Amino acid sequence: MSAVHLDHLETLYASGDDPWGFRTSAYEQAKFRATRAALGRPAYSSTLELGCGNGELARHIAPICGQYTGVDAVETALQAARRAVPGGRFVKLFLPAPLPDGPHDLIILSEILYFLDPDGIRALAAQLDRRWPGAELLCVTWLGHSGNPLQGRDALDLFRAATPRGWHRAGGGARYRIDRAEGRA
Ligand SMILES: C[S@@+](CC[C@H](N)C(=O)[O-])C[C@H]1O[C@@H](n2cnc3c(N)ncnc32)[C@H](O)[C@@H]1O
Repeated sequence: MSAVHLDHLETLYASGDDPWGFRTSAYEQAKFRATRAALGRPAYSSTLELGCGNGELARHIAPICGQYTGVDAVETALQAARRAVPGGRFVKLFLPAPLPDGPHDLIILSEILYFLDPDGIRALAAQLDRRWPGAELLCVTWLGHSGNPLQGRDALDLFRAATPRGWHRAGGGARYRIDRAEGRA
């Protein structure tokens, strides 16, 4: 399940399509560049981003991906993402849910896990592991107070424990961290 209700997500976007200031915040833009720099490979054939928001992170990552698929629960966010990355595929889904098909070799979970509850995180991890065992996983996690029932570090710990791979720290600092796991052979 998601710990944060759909109504609340839609309220966040009620006054505009950039509620976290992704387009204007130097911190967010630097984090997007750091996210790209933390990837394990120079290019991917198919990327899936969970909780893609308005596509600002996608704008940084899509140029090195053959295909880019983003999912989000809020239509306002998806419309902005389609404008940000016209060649991308953006799908409305309230997670956890069956994810869009594709030969995904990179799956990005940036600032999304702490919107879910522990069962939802475990369900998502099980689906990713079953359907895309060879994909690289990249998590970006805010380390301050999330404002949600689950905090970022706890959500990340739950996800990593449910994903039996070799995880390592790939970037970040005092405010956020980036963790990466290679796909299983
Ligand atoms: C903090 S933003 C992160 C956006 C982007 N991944 C990034 O790092 O810049 C979180 C996004 O996840 C979406 N989201 C939160 N819970 C969700 C859920 N259960 N299902 C789908 N999307 C969700 C929100 O609508 C929001 O756009």
